[in-house]
Amino acid sequence: MSVKERILCIGAGYVGGPTMAVIAEKCPHCRVELVDVNEERIRQWNSDDLPIYEAGLDEIVKRNRGKNLFFSTDIGRGIDESDIIFVSVNTPTKTFGQGAGQAADLQYWEKTARQILRHSRNDKIVVEKSTLPVLTAEAMDRILSSGGDDAQFDVLSNPEFLAEGTAIRDLLEPDRVLLGRMDTERGHAACDRLSAIYENWVDRSRILRTNVWSAELSKLVANAFLAQRISSINSISALCEKTKADVTEVARAIGLDSRIGPRFLNAGVGFGGSCFKKDILNLVYICRQQGLNEVADYWQQVVRINVYQHDRFVANMIAEMFNTVAGKKIAVLGFAFKANTGDTRESPAITVCRRLLAENALVHIADPKALRQVEAELGGLDGVSLFEDPYEAAEGAHAIALLTDWACYRELNFQRILDAMEKPAFLFDGRNLLDHRALYKIGFNVYPIGKTPLRHF
Ligand code: UDX
Ligand code: ADP
Repeated sequence: MSVKERILCIGAGYVGGPTMAVIAEKCPHCRVELVDVNEERIRQWNSDDLPIYEAGLDEIVKRNRGKNLFFSTDIGRGIDESDIIFVSVNTPTKTFGQGAGQAADLQYWEKTARQILRHSRNDKIVVEKSTLPVLTAEAMDRILSSGGDDAQFDVLSNPEFLAEGTAIRDLLEPDRVLLGRMDTERGHAACDRLSAIYENWVDRSRILRTNVWSAELSKLVANAFLAQRISSINSISALCEKTKADVTEVARAIGLDSRIGPRFLNAGVGFGGSCFKKDILNLVYICRQQGLNEVADYWQQVVRINVYQHDRFVANMIAEMFNTVAGKKIAVLGFAFKANTGDTRESPAITVCRRLLAENALVHIADPKALRQVEAELGGLDGVSLFEDPYEAAEGAHAIALLTDWACYRELNFQRILDAMEKPAFLFDGRNLLDHRALYKIGFNVYPIGKTPLRHF
């Protein structure tokens, strides 16, 4: 079969990897290659031990690798030999200079744009897959237009809405695919070609075409709205703890209103992940740049409530454990920012553990998939120990802090855990995952989020 499109993705991370694997699976007539500057990452993509954990990803990669799915560090050759280039490099929050702490750091992205220009000898469609501030497609277009007449470029925005843990399902059955294009003949033609790729498995009615800037902004706004729901319910969890209300009951009652809906109303220790905070801070920065300070303040508050929720959790632990955790073992169950991923970026567990360590606690961390990342994040710090086995992590502990909603933690034998702990035994359920009444009955002092604590004294 002749190759219909030669697709390249620059950046083989959490977004680029799964997205390209699914495109390769669904478009056997296309050649798909992922390139990355990180040699170790590419080596892992070519091995049996993929660099990221995502349900269903292993099978898809192994089925297609070497047939129409390839991984390489040869970025220049990859660019030269492709017709459609997805840019999926990281765009972290800037840590220096103007906009530090809020604006997106675009250095990787700009380097990529220049690399594309340098290595291109034929016309190409360049697709933004990273989350980028509004109007960066225009900047990309300007860089790509600065190189003479050898090659012409059409820039499209195709933001990714996949969530980690369900990435493959989200890619196979997306709520929508958003394609942003310039309103020109070439822009529409480029959009048709990209749409044709998705139409191999996504119904046309779910493929939305907008102008480039609407597409870019929609990505930020979707994440801001989702995070806002979590901060809203978390703010109410604080009020529930002060009164006799139960945040789960409140969430259920409001979620049954079809205008509100039930999803993303689980109160917890706070949201994490690489997107929510970064995208909101980006939105805030853009609003301030446009002189919209009231709008910026409004969205900034979503992040403030999230920090407040982490702070409240740790402060409550310390207060309940007789105002000191120094020298006490705390078993941390779960470090990933949510269940079913090994990703720990912006995980609430990072803040919680660092605060506990600052109080001279001994932190015993268990996680089914994220220990490699925990090692990178906290390894080597005094007071940190890592455990494959949650029972071992809890041995001799004064308290358990459950920070990730891994379903396997619901199945633990808590009687066995309790028997091996110091007494009184404290359990802080940062995800409202466990059966609190049952745990209280066997002897734990239980502290859920947004509910009355169950204490024995
Ligand atoms: C998010 C968006 O959902 C996705 O569309 C976008 O492409 C990337 O950002 P992700 O960060 O992978 O995806 O995970 P998500 O499921 O949205 O969870 C984010 C955080 O919110 C997690 O820490 C999760 O535990 C927390 N969360 C989620 C809650 O605390 N309560 C909820 O009800 C839902
Ligand atoms: P995301 O969650 O957005 O996919 P990741 O950090 O998981 O973010 O992945 C981004 C990838 O982009 C990383 O593997 C990084 O090495 C890669 N990268 C960054 N800059 C470049 C570049 N100039 N060329 C190729 N790859 C790059």
